[in-house]
Amino acid sequence: MNSVLVASNRGPVSFTVSDDGELTMRRGGGGLVSGLSGVAKDEGVLWVCAALSNDDRSAVRVAPGGRIDQAGYDTGALRMLDIPQATFHRAYNAVANSTLWFVNHLLYDIPNEPYFGTRFEREWESYRDYNGAFALALAEEAGHGARVMVQDYHLTLTPAMLRAERPDLRIAHFSHTPWAPPEYFSLLPDEVAGEVLEGILGADHAGFLTGRWAESFMDCCEALLGAEVDRVGRSVTHEGRTTRIGVHSLGVDGDALWERACEPDVESHMAAIRDQVGERRLIVRIDRTELSKNIVRGLVAYREFLAAHPEWHGRVVHLAFAYPSRHDLPQYREYTASVQRCAQEIEDEYATEDWDPLILNVNDDYPRSLAAYRMADVLLVNPIRDGMNLVAKEGPVLSPRCALVLSREAGAAAELGPHALVVNPYDVSGTAAALHEALVMPEDERRARRDRLYAAATALPPQKWLAAQLDALA
Ligand code: G6P
Repeated sequence: MNSVLVASNRGPVSFTVSDDGELTMRRGGGGLVSGLSGVAKDEGVLWVCAALSNDDRSAVRVAPGGRIDQAGYDTGALRMLDIPQATFHRAYNAVANSTLWFVNHLLYDIPNEPYFGTRFEREWESYRDYNGAFALALAEEAGHGARVMVQDYHLTLTPAMLRAERPDLRIAHFSHTPWAPPEYFSLLPDEVAGEVLEGILGADHAGFLTGRWAESFMDCCEALLGAEVDRVGRSVTHEGRTTRIGVHSLGVDGDALWERACEPDVESHMAAIRDQVGERRLIVRIDRTELSKNIVRGLVAYREFLAAHPEWHGRVVHLAFAYPSRHDLPQYREYTASVQRCAQEIEDEYATEDWDPLILNVNDDYPRSLAAYRMADVLLVNPIRDGMNLVAKEGPVLSPRCALVLSREAGAAAELGPHALVVNPYDVSGTAAALHEALVMPEDERRARRDRLYAAATALPPQKWLAAQLDALA
């Protein structure tokens, strides 16, 4: 029986089956994996996650009880759930990524979507089943009085379901996304909105990345459930139970990141980029190709900057890394195409024989991203809305002189805003002006700002973030 459990849709490892049937396990990245590695050694941690692909399912089917032996990884024990593919698809793609993600990031094209009809009812039923599968597995695995940390919008119903089974447990839920204000959250059918809020309120502790998202959650509980909210003491009381609301920002482990970024594969990418761009200044962006990341407006801003500042032609290159994401969803495939179209237009308009104004890369390459961070003069992070945005924190850790152009709608703006050039993500002219300001920022100012960004970005590494939440449950 385990004393600390973590539940998330995406787990710390994934599998691939080769043509000859051999299974290979890969460790995933991300703050949660690295944060957990710190505590997994000391506590009896079990991680419960979903099989995401058919290859993951193959691995689960040969693992007794779904228990994956992660020899060599220090993220604790792992149980992967083989949720039927159709159920998983509806829960993950239709509800989590196409509905809850869209609501909390305010992404709908309101005159045309969403529609909540009979098809959605079926999808919602699958989301319940998927959350129920997690609750069941956690109830089976948790020792008496164990602490359970449920992660993110995929698993909003799990806390209440688990509490119903196991009232002895101490349960936390953490949202890695923003939270929508009540007038937007109530686009959801009333019963669904209520179930999501009550699902999270099944936890003893509900955590958010910034005060702003925590406030929005409390506003929704008050407006939609009529719950009693204490904004100063940060708690929500509903139907006789009180859930404490916590704000836990997440930063980066500066030393570990720096160590990784000094490895030879990164250095050779740096040399290759240098070959390509020469001594020109670099404006860098690194994102999943995600609707909320606002990549197209970022490109349009760069185009406006080039139009307004011919003196920079031939002297600057925009490196835009936009990695594939959620390609099961048509909106994401279309968005990737828009990004590519817009990049092509900039090329057509400005490229010369010896100058590529823009280098767009749409395939994932972690060491190349680290190389780009190290070389950045300007880092552009302009999401429409973002829970935190770790790129905004990783960049200043790795680049000794980068100026940060940062959207005021990113959670990171709460901590980094005073040292960044803060922009309205919809204002492309304002963003273009900020790119210029960042490029011409005097050397001593950019270094001073970068040092303050570094300090803010590394103040709460994943280990501390995780420990704070475990303490909140103690
Ligand atoms: C966000 C979510 C995470 C999610 C990640 C990647 O950061 O908060 O929970 O894992 O996006 O999305 P994906 O759908 O590929 O897991």
